[in-house]
Amino acid sequence: MAYCCGRRTARSEAGITLKTAKLLKASDPAAIAEAARIIRDGGLVVFPTETVYGLGADACNPLAVARIFEVKQRPRLDPLIVHVADVESARLYGLFPEGVAAELMRRFWPGPLTLVVPKSERIPPIVTAGLPTVAIRMPAHEAALALIRAAGCALAAPSANSFGRVSPTEASHISDHLAKKIDLILDGGRCAVGVESTVLALTGGTPRILRAGGIPPETLRELLGPIEWSTGGQDRPQSPGQLTRHYATNTPLEILKEGDRRADPHPGERVGLLTLTSPRHPEQYAAVEVLSETGDLRVAAANLFAALHRLDRQQLDRIAAHALPEHGLGIAIMDRLRRCAAR
Ligand code: TXA
Ligand code: MG
Repeated sequence: MAYCCGRRTARSEAGITLKTAKLLKASDPAAIAEAARIIRDGGLVVFPTETVYGLGADACNPLAVARIFEVKQRPRLDPLIVHVADVESARLYGLFPEGVAAELMRRFWPGPLTLVVPKSERIPPIVTAGLPTVAIRMPAHEAALALIRAAGCALAAPSANSFGRVSPTEASHISDHLAKKIDLILDGGRCAVGVESTVLALTGGTPRILRAGGIPPETLRELLGPIEWSTGGQDRPQSPGQLTRHYATNTPLEILKEGDRRADPHPGERVGLLTLTSPRHPEQYAAVEVLSETGDLRVAAANLFAALHRLDRQQLDRIAAHALPEHGLGIAIMDRLRRCAAR
């Protein structure tokens, strides 16, 4: 992939240059205006959020939303998140329960918390995969909010990767395969949070976490008290974030405790190491990715997907990932690594 006059070019194996998405700076108001035009015309735009890049379409245009499923090769049974720029719009699309929802929105929006609530008539069934509920969030990213406002509609948007693959946290992570099928990529640099939003269902008695993400469960518990978990994949709906194998690298990845000798390369073997802090013997590995020199799990989350993308490009035989502490953002990181490791 190369960047050329703001337009990405991709060469096929036959050497033919294929048309691919235009790449524009997300901080440029003219780029936001162009992206909004594409969305209003039923097109698809990749845009930055604080978590990962999203592949957005007008949430109220069923044909545009259908293209998201085609481009991502995503099963139609997996519902999408609806992105809004303010609480008032959220209330047009979802029926938020009294009390707790308003408190959650006040505390965590804009930010990496998605709320699942009963849907309103305005959301077409394709967005929610026919479910009576809808997932809604307000991203904490100026360009994302500007795009939603300029387009004048909510954006249905999954992460901007092919189904089952590692999510993009930089514009350069967008695969050529995906870029060839869309019109525009807004480049907003690196995503600050780096893992997807926490998905919290407010549809029963006790709030239920459906996906670990950018807001740690401890933080939610401080506000809500007890929370249920259902991130295992047995419950309806079958959502992409709940599939056992997801966030997959092409290179096999294994999670090992630090110090486990199974991480050591055999003679001639190229092993990549993914680790929280600097390892004691880095020289034996073909590549080493340190997620945070100081062991800060927030920094580690922000670096996680970029590190996986880099390791996956280095023709390694395998990746050994050191297990991380499971508190705070470590919970979301380990969730992603386990699904990546599942074969
Ligand atoms: O951070 C994020 O959430 C990113 C950015 C782009 O906003 N988006 C994202 O979307 O991760 P996606 O499609 O990769 O994941 C959507 C998740 C699924 O795991 C699914 O469980 C949940 O949202 N979801 C969507 N609608 C739902 C519904 N009605 N009921 C239960 N879960 C739902
Ligand atoms: Mg995803």
